[in-house]
Amino acid sequence: MNVSSASAESLRAALAGLLDGLPPSQTTKAVDRLIAHYRGTTPTDAPVLRDRSDVAAYAAYRMPATFEAARGALEALWAAAPEWTPGTHTDVGGGTGAASWAVADVWEGGPRSTVLDWAEPALALGRELADGVLDAAWRRERIGTALRLDETDLVTVSYVLKELTEGDRTALVAEAARAARGAVVVVEPGTPDGYERIIAARSVLIDAGLTVAAPCPHSGACPIEPGTDWCHFSARVSRSSLHRKVKGGSLPYEDEKYAYVAATRFPVRPAPGRVVRRPQIRKGLVLLDLCAPEGLGRETVTKRHGPLYKRARDAEWGDSWPPAGQD
Ligand SMILES: C[S@@+](CC[C@H](N)C(=O)[O-])C[C@H]1O[C@@H](n2cnc3c(N)ncnc32)[C@H](O)[C@@H]1O
Repeated sequence: MNVSSASAESLRAALAGLLDGLPPSQTTKAVDRLIAHYRGTTPTDAPVLRDRSDVAAYAAYRMPATFEAARGALEALWAAAPEWTPGTHTDVGGGTGAASWAVADVWEGGPRSTVLDWAEPALALGRELADGVLDAAWRRERIGTALRLDETDLVTVSYVLKELTEGDRTALVAEAARAARGAVVVVEPGTPDGYERIIAARSVLIDAGLTVAAPCPHSGACPIEPGTDWCHFSARVSRSSLHRKVKGGSLPYEDEKYAYVAATRFPVRPAPGRVVRRPQIRKGLVLLDLCAPEGLGRETVTKRHGPLYKRARDAEWGDSWPPAGQD
């Protein structure tokens, strides 16, 4: 995964000055509250991001990671439909705009984004961070069964479903499917319950007539037996010194685990198969756990496979397999 794209760099630069002027104790308190909230029970009746220090903490603490996760999902959509470019984009529950930055990264320059959220301080900070970089409008909107979206080419719903009641989740995904002329991308944390919300969203999208573009190689039933495993991926997030200060620890990166589904109204070429675990490289062979149209399976690629062996050694969790030209 590319961690140093132009958007990632400018987002990092925009985030760097964010905590200037905020007392460190206030930031730490806001981060602690966020962590407690995200570990605790959701949904809530009112925005969790209540003020500037909450949103500054969210942006510093979570935005680089949700940006990379959204980018991973959007890149997989792009790979399944490289000729398609969205002209308009709606980022529902967009908060400080991580998914809009990711959209602008995948489709260089980006479509016109509209970011919808009920937390005014998040919208205000998102607007500030994106000033002069993204073509985006920021609008206060409450997600619920009454939400009506304007028609748009692409809808993203990134790290939002967890914050909603089950009824609101289903209604939101159905509304996203109705409003999207092109594609809907839903991203959640890469946890067992995040995967379950993605599988439920995937069903709603298919029932609405969309085709799964990624990560699945088909729009049929997921081969994972409920409760036994969960489909998720990993995005490497490089950490700035500011990020290290806020989150603690000393590693220059962290791995954000995420689950996602991308579905389209137009025909796509999904991956022939997808690497669904980190490949295991042994002496002279690579073990690839794959999800393919025929189900889950393991492929062993050895030196005897010639050029394919080199490709297998370079393969990453989440990649399409076999690589183009080898299927
Ligand atoms: C975890 S944040 C994700 C923000 C952003 N999409 C990202 O990927 O970084 C969840 C966002 O959903 C918004 N949200 C939660 N429930 C909402 C509701 N009922 N109506 C509008 N926005 C909501 C929150 O205010 C917050 O900005």
